[in-house]
This record gives sequence, C-alpha cells and structure tokens, in this order.
Amino acid sequence: MSDSVKAAYEATDDYEVRVRTHELYSVAEGSWGEWLVGQLPREGVRAVLDVGCGTGGILRLIAAAGIGERWVGVDQSEAMVEKAQGLAGEAGLSIEFRQGDILDPPRGEERFDLICACHMLYHVADLDATLSNCVRLLAPGGRFVATTNSRDTMNPYFAEVESALAERFPEINIEPAPDRCFSLENGAEFLVRHFDHIELRVRRDAFRFPSPEPWAAYLKSGRHLDMPSDHTDDEWAEVAGMIDRIAQEQCAGGELVVPKVAGMFLCTGARGEG
Ligand SMILES: C[S@@+](CC[C@H](N)C(=O)[O-])C[C@H]1O[C@@H](n2cnc3c(N)ncnc32)[C@H](O)[C@@H]1O
Repeated sequence: MSDSVKAAYEATDDYEVRVRTHELYSVAEGSWGEWLVGQLPREGVRAVLDVGCGTGGILRLIAAAGIGERWVGVDQSEAMVEKAQGLAGEAGLSIEFRQGDILDPPRGEERFDLICACHMLYHVADLDATLSNCVRLLAPGGRFVATTNSRDTMNPYFAEVESALAERFPEINIEPAPDRCFSLENGAEFLVRHFDHIELRVRRDAFRFPSPEPWAAYLKSGRHLDMPSDHTDDEWAEVAGMIDRIAQEQCAGGELVVPKVAGMFLCTGARGEG
C-alpha cells in the first residue's frame, strides 16, 4: 500500500469531511448509499463482506436493509475500523469489523455471498491481485460489487484545481495515473479478467455549494492523496491558499454547481470462485 493511502486514512477526519459534504450539498433525491443499497442483490445473500469499508456507512445501510444475515467490514486503517465499530454499536447493528489489507487476506475457509468494494479499488496498487483475492473469498454463485467515480466527475472544476496545482508544483504526482486508476470508464477492463458478467449502473448527481468554503474544504480533504508524502506544512499552506482562491473564483457567481458521476459494477460468474 502506498504511503499516501496510509496517510490519507490514518485518521478519519478527511474522509468524514468528504462524506459530510456529499450528505449536505448533493442535489439528487436520496443519498448515494441509499441508491447503492437499492441496487444490490438480496436473494441468496447470507454473508456480506465490505472491503475498504471506511467507517462502515455502506455496511450499516446494507445491514439495516436486511440484505444478508452476517456482515463483515475490513479496512486497512485502524482508525476507520474503530470508528466503524462505534457507529455500528450506536445503531444497534451487529457487524464485525476487522483491520486488514485486501492484498493480504486471511487464508481461512470463510466465504461470502456478496462482496462490496466501494470507492477503494482506485487506491490499490495491484488491481488483479485484489480482484483475485475477492474472487477467492466469494461463495459459489457469489456476487461482487465495485463502486467508483467517473473519470470526469466534478469536472471541469476539479480538473482546473488539479492543473493549477500541477503547474505550480510539478512534483505533485497524483497516483495512480488515470489509465491505471479504477474508474467507471476503465473498470470493466480489469473486472473482465475475473468475472464472466459485468453490468454497469451509473448515477448522476451534483453538489450545489452556496459559498466556496465547503467546496474548498472538500478539495483540501485530499491533502495526503494529492501531495507528495514528504511535503512540508509550508508547501501545504501554499497549496491550501491556492485551493481557497480557485474555489472563490469558481463560486464567483454566488453559487457553484459541480456535477458528479459515480456508479457500480455488478459482477457475477467469478472465475475460480469458492
Ligand atoms: C474512499 S474510502 C471508501 C470507504 C467506503 N468504502 C465508502 O465507500 O465510503 C477508501 C477506503 O479504502 C481503504 N483501503 C484502501 N486500500 C485498502 C486495502 N488495500 N485494503 C483494505 N482497505 C483499504 C482505506 O483505508 C479507506 O478507508
């Protein structure tokens, strides 16, 4: 796992800024999580695994919707797992959370009827190894769901920020490169090596920001993913200032609408399952 992914999720704060921004400023009816859970298969699903589960929001919705009867969430970050355990407990849901890297899964007999990898495959260094591990953890006939963003999500606004930063700090290298980064556009190319049937379902939404601050906060929550891992606080202060200025310009009309596109791949017919 890259140092930047480790640093980005070592604490839950930045991730939670993004989750809250989606909750507060999205225009579509219903939340992303509700949409996703509404797309998931129910029949024949008993054991559910969510890899890279973050603070467990999707798994709580899955459990609350009565999809399956046993739920396990795995995340490489101790802080995410701790928070997920607390939130599931508060919600009165019996979900097991474990700290672990999907690239190094346990070798036991445990198998799952539904495995979800939500907005995490774009972080893994070895997509084929990750997908092989997921396939190995699937029960016969099991389903795999991978969610991610469109390459164009939040553009042109996000791209404008990225290119301004790349111009000022050429050493900022957003990894992995777009052609290696698991997206709605290229995801099927990776999945087809592991599954016979792949169905893509897309959801279009937008942020509507009444002022630049929440958009700037969202952009700044990517600090550890976007900056080189050895960046200094001074360099970050300069980048944060640039982000504030760009967000202000983009929101000069008094309101900013940022389109966003995400979706899911529903995969069946795992090769070498069980
Ligand atoms: C963008 S967050 C998504 C969290 C959650 N799935 C969601 O959709 O809200 C990515 C999560 O994947 C986790 N992650 C990244 N690489 C991982 C790996 N190799 N194994 C396990 N978890 C990983 C991170 O720690 C982080 O919590």
